[in-house]
Amino acid sequence: MGGMCGIVGYVGPRPSESILLSGLARLEYRGYDSAGIAVIDADGTLGMRKRAGKLGVLRDDLARTPLPDGTTGIGHTRWATHGGPTDQNAHPHLADDGRLAVIHNGIIENFAALKAELLASGATFLSETDTEVAAVLLAHEYRANGGDLEAAFRSTVSRLDGAFTLLAMHQEHPGLVVGARRNSPLVIGLGDGENFLGSDVAAFVEHTRSALAIGQDQIVAITPEGVRVTDFDGNAVEVEPFQVTWDAAAAEKGGWSSFMAKEVSEEPEAVANTVRGRTHDGIVEIPELEGLDGLFTGIHRILVIACGTAAYAGQVGKYALEQWARVPVDVELAHEFRYRDPVLDPGTLVVSISQSGETMDTLMAVKYARERGAKTLSICNTQGATIPRESDAIVYTHAGPEVAVASTKAFVAQITALYLLALHIGRVRGAVTAEQQATAVAEIEAVPGKISWILEHQQERVTQLARWMADSRSVLFLGRHVGFPIALEGALKLKEISYIHAEGFAAGELKHGPIALIEPGQPVFVIVPSPVHSPVLHDKVVSNIQEIRARGARVIVIAEEGDAAVLPFADEVLRIPLAGPLFEPLLAVVPLHVFAMGLATARGLDIDQPRNLAKSVTVE
Ligand code: AGP
Repeated sequence: MGGMCGIVGYVGPRPSESILLSGLARLEYRGYDSAGIAVIDADGTLGMRKRAGKLGVLRDDLARTPLPDGTTGIGHTRWATHGGPTDQNAHPHLADDGRLAVIHNGIIENFAALKAELLASGATFLSETDTEVAAVLLAHEYRANGGDLEAAFRSTVSRLDGAFTLLAMHQEHPGLVVGARRNSPLVIGLGDGENFLGSDVAAFVEHTRSALAIGQDQIVAITPEGVRVTDFDGNAVEVEPFQVTWDAAAAEKGGWSSFMAKEVSEEPEAVANTVRGRTHDGIVEIPELEGLDGLFTGIHRILVIACGTAAYAGQVGKYALEQWARVPVDVELAHEFRYRDPVLDPGTLVVSISQSGETMDTLMAVKYARERGAKTLSICNTQGATIPRESDAIVYTHAGPEVAVASTKAFVAQITALYLLALHIGRVRGAVTAEQQATAVAEIEAVPGKISWILEHQQERVTQLARWMADSRSVLFLGRHVGFPIALEGALKLKEISYIHAEGFAAGELKHGPIALIEPGQPVFVIVPSPVHSPVLHDKVVSNIQEIRARGARVIVIAEEGDAAVLPFADEVLRIPLAGPLFEPLLAVVPLHVFAMGLATARGLDIDQPRNLAKSVTVE
C-alpha cells in the first residue's frame, strides 16, 4: 500500500543538511523504507547520499563520511512503489553527470514511454524507478534550454502523466530549488532570508509557521530572497498564504507512549477546536462558507464520499444532514462510487471527508464528480492538501496533526464538522428552526466536556478490559441507527492495530445471519441507544443483548448513565454521559478507541505504524 513519501527542500544562509534531516524526521510517521539528501556546497558542487532503511542508517552513513556543507538542499523519504527499497532506487536521483538532483512523491504513469524515448537518444539509467526517468528527462531539457532550470523544469513536468510532487536543483544554480505538484502535496515555508518546501508543513514548522499552498499543476521556485509561483506555462499565479495553526511540539509525541494515545487524549479539544468560531447565539455560521449559500440552496441531494474511518464518520453525518438540512443523503465508498457510473448533476453536492486530504481514491472520486457537474465540498484536516484544492468549498476540521495511522481525534472532528455543516445548510435552506439549532448547538458545545468525562472515568477500566481480552480471536460490535457506524468504526480500529478479526453489524441484522457466529465466550460490544431519546430502539437492542447472552456471548455494553435495563444482561457496562439523540456516536466511540489501543498494547504491537498500513493511501 503506497504511503506518502516525505519531501523537504531548503535555501538560505544555514547548512542545509541538519535542516533536511530534522525535517524528514518529522515526516517519519508516513512510513518509508529509504531516505536520502542532496546538497550544493559552497564551491558549487552537488553532493548526494541515500540509503535503504530508516533515517538512522542515513545519519550514520553521513557521520562516517560527511557531505561538504552547503546551504541549498533537498531531502526525501521513499515508500517503494516502482522498484524495491534499495540504495539505488532511493531518492534523490542524479542526472546530467551528477550535477542535477531530483526527488519525487507519487507515480509517473507514462515513465515507460519516456524512458524508451530517452534510451533511444542515448541516455543511460542506473535504477528501475520512474523518478530517474524524470531526472534524465529534466537533464535533457536543461541542456536544450541552455541551462535555464525553471524553463527546463516547466517543459519536463508538462510531459509527465500521473500524480507527482517533484523537486529539483542543479549545481550551476546554488540557492535555487524548483518544485511542482499534480495530485500530490507540496507546501512552502516562508522564512526570513530563507525558504522551505515540504510534502506537509511538519517538514519546516520548527523554523516557520508562515506557509503557502500551491495549486494543481503549479511550479514554485524558491531562493533565499523569495518565492515565485507559476503555472506549467510559466504564467505567474496568485497563491494564498496561511499560518500553520499548530507548532512542532504538537507533531511530537509530547511524552505520550504513542501518537495514538496522545491523539485519543486530544479528542475533546479536536471537537472544541472544530466548533470554535462557527457557532454564535445558538446558530451555526461557518465562516469559510460565507457567500456560498448557492452551493446549498440549489441542491436536491448530498453524496458523502470517503474511505475507511472517514466513511464511517460520513455514515453518522448522514443522520444529521437528513435531520437538519432535510436533503436526501447517500454515503459512498470513494473507490466504489467512481466505477459505478453514478447519476450526477449540478443539483448534487458531493461532500468528501478526508483527514489527510491526499487519499487517492477519494481525490479521484471528487475529480470525477466535479467533471460531471456536481458541486464539491471538502471536509479535511490538512491545510493545503490536494482534495480541498479540488473542491468548491472547504470546511477544515481543526484536530491538529494526526500522526497515528489509526484515525481517532480526526474521526470525532469529522463528525463534528458534519453536524455543523448540516446545521449551517439547514439554516441557509430554512429547513431547521431556531429552537432546533439552539438545542443542537448547546449539545455540540457540551461534547468536549463529555468526552473528557469518559477519558477520566473509563479509560483505565477499558484498558484493563482490553488486557483481559488480549487473546481474543474475534470480537463483534453491534450498533443501531447512529450507533451502527460506530460499531463499524470500533471493529476497524481493532482490526487495524491489533490484527484481530473484528466485525461490526447493525443490531437488527443479528437474526438475519450473524447470530450464527455467537458461541459461548464470544466477546460482543453493544452500543445501546439512549433509553431517554430512543426508547423503542433501546428496548429492541436490549432484546438483542438477551438473545446473544442466551447463547453464551460475553457482552460488553456501552450505555448511557442511568440505563438500568442493560444490567441483568451485560458482563461489563461502560457508561457514557447523557447526550442528545444524535450525539451518542461522539461519546460511544471513545471507549472503542481506548479498547483497540489497550488490546494492541497488551499484544506488544506497534500502535502508531501497524503492519501493512500507511497513514495516507496515496495510490488507488
Ligand atoms: C482509519 O483509522 C484508517 N487509517 C483508514 O481507514 C483511513 O480512515 C482512510 O484511509 C481514509 O484516510 P483519509 O481520512 O486521510 O482520507
